[in-house]
Amino acid sequence: MCGIIGYAGDESAVPIIVDGLKKLEYRGYDSAGIAVFTKDSFKVVKQKGRLVGLEERLENTTITSNMGIGHTRWATHGEPSDVNSHPHLGSGSKIAVVHNGIIENYKQLKAQLERRGVKFVSQTDSEVVAQLAEYYYNGNLLDTVIKTANALEGSYALGIMCLEEPDVLVAVKKDNPLIVGVSEKGNFIASDVPAILKHTNQVFYLEDKEIAVLTKRAVQFFNMDKELLTKQIETITWSVDSAEKGGYPHFMLKEIVEQPKVLCDTIQSEIIKIPDITSFNKIVITACGSAYNAGVVSKYVFERLCRFPSIEVELASEFRYKDACVDEKTLVILVSQSGETADTIAAMREAKTKGAITLSIVNVVGSTLAKEADYTVYTAAGPEIAVATTKAFSTQLVVLYKLAVKFAVQLQKISADEGRKLSDEIASIPDKVAEILTKIDFIQKYASTCIGYKSIFFIGRNIDYAIALEGSLKLKEISYIHSEAYAGGELKHGTISLVEENTLVVAISCCQRLYSKIFSNIEQVISRGAKVFLVSNVEAAEETDKLSLLKLPNIHELFSPSLSVIVLQLFSYYVAANKGLDIDKPRNLAKSVTVE
Ligand code: G6P
Repeated sequence: MCGIIGYAGDESAVPIIVDGLKKLEYRGYDSAGIAVFTKDSFKVVKQKGRLVGLEERLENTTITSNMGIGHTRWATHGEPSDVNSHPHLGSGSKIAVVHNGIIENYKQLKAQLERRGVKFVSQTDSEVVAQLAEYYYNGNLLDTVIKTANALEGSYALGIMCLEEPDVLVAVKKDNPLIVGVSEKGNFIASDVPAILKHTNQVFYLEDKEIAVLTKRAVQFFNMDKELLTKQIETITWSVDSAEKGGYPHFMLKEIVEQPKVLCDTIQSEIIKIPDITSFNKIVITACGSAYNAGVVSKYVFERLCRFPSIEVELASEFRYKDACVDEKTLVILVSQSGETADTIAAMREAKTKGAITLSIVNVVGSTLAKEADYTVYTAAGPEIAVATTKAFSTQLVVLYKLAVKFAVQLQKISADEGRKLSDEIASIPDKVAEILTKIDFIQKYASTCIGYKSIFFIGRNIDYAIALEGSLKLKEISYIHSEAYAGGELKHGTISLVEENTLVVAISCCQRLYSKIFSNIEQVISRGAKVFLVSNVEAAEETDKLSLLKLPNIHELFSPSLSVIVLQLFSYYVAANKGLDIDKPRNLAKSVTVE
């Protein structure tokens, strides 16, 4: 978590750094800061709170500088406070550092430095990097960074400057993402592409323990033995507009509305290389958060289409520590928007160690999961900025459907012709999503009546239950209303005791064959005082005074989550919007969870 950016060039550094931080705020937003070179010292401005506070402070100052670093923080060690904000300086103010990650041996390093008289001012693990680099500094920043990085344990993406080398910005990373952007007007480091997309689409992806040395005219790469490296430059295809709000009040709404397009792009991009599923006897899908929910939905699809003996879905944080029964006959599918989620990466490495074959479904090109998995399929969601995922989730679903159809054909569980029909059905999703988006006004109005509920439950059966998990997660993430999702059949085993007057139950019903079953659950909760919001494409569904209905277009049952989820996303969005909450940056959350 945390976002870092750095710039060395001809332009004024402060606006470039602040603008970049705005694009990185999704990674953490409890404090922000910058350090830039002025004539003969670092000018550091940093404070607790949202970036907007820092911006206001900077508006009243004129800082002339062409080089600097910036940081937006998600606190791990040390509470959010001015002093714990980055950048951190060494005690002699000679070295300035921004850090994303966790220095696991910081206590030992800090104790060693303190014994040598170094005075620490913050409670962070990150300050140790600045203090250590300053302690080691020998007149050469590259040498110093190598020595410092060698002493660090844990994860880091670092931007480092030294007062005695005013032309040089050095970056190094391990287990956290860092890119280097190059352009006519200067060179950049950043945690993610959107931060620099406005200035350049030419980037290098830094590998672990690679070091970048930037000046305003050049970038050089080294390994830890100080050998010069030749790296491949990559062209980013994301458009500049895709990382801007484009007139919408929140990125989340913009990203919901973008779904017909990104779904179309993802459906149309061909899956070129996948393993032969007939050589496996087990599939494990593993991920975190919403990506895990996409996995839960897809389990129903894989099971129904592939009739495969063993298909499991596991939270990556559980998979990595459970000594999973996987081997070279197991295909492990990793689902991740960022491709940088620490638990998902660890799950992949664990699976590989056991000989399993890995396939990642990832949105960010060049991310760790994309690079390290045996096979990678990209979603074409474009940059997703809102912390609560919408379009990335939807594109994950369609990639999983496409895989399930391909595997079912390979396994001869369906004919090529049946496969084509299912593919046509998948291709119909974007238009049907667009049709649902025409009902935004109804959903907005209905959601505005729901902000007073203390608890909102989501129920469904079968694949409708799987998508209920995502609906519930979305709602609690951004509206702070307590919410849980239950399989309809489980209600009577406990949850119904929580249902009373002033409870809302959102029911999803797109499995025609199970409509009467979920409807009896609906009647049970209504008779105990609940109100119901039913999201369904079943013909028989009707509105009553206790039940509000949103009708969905028809689609094959297995792909219906792609339609119901749009309503659930919009519902959550408008509940949170009506509560006046900071939707794109919900409290305590960050988009990219690069620590355990
Ligand atoms: C965070 C985000 C979620 C996301 C999850 C996994 O919790 O808020 O939206 O689903 O991380 O992230 P990934 O990048 O691996 O999909």
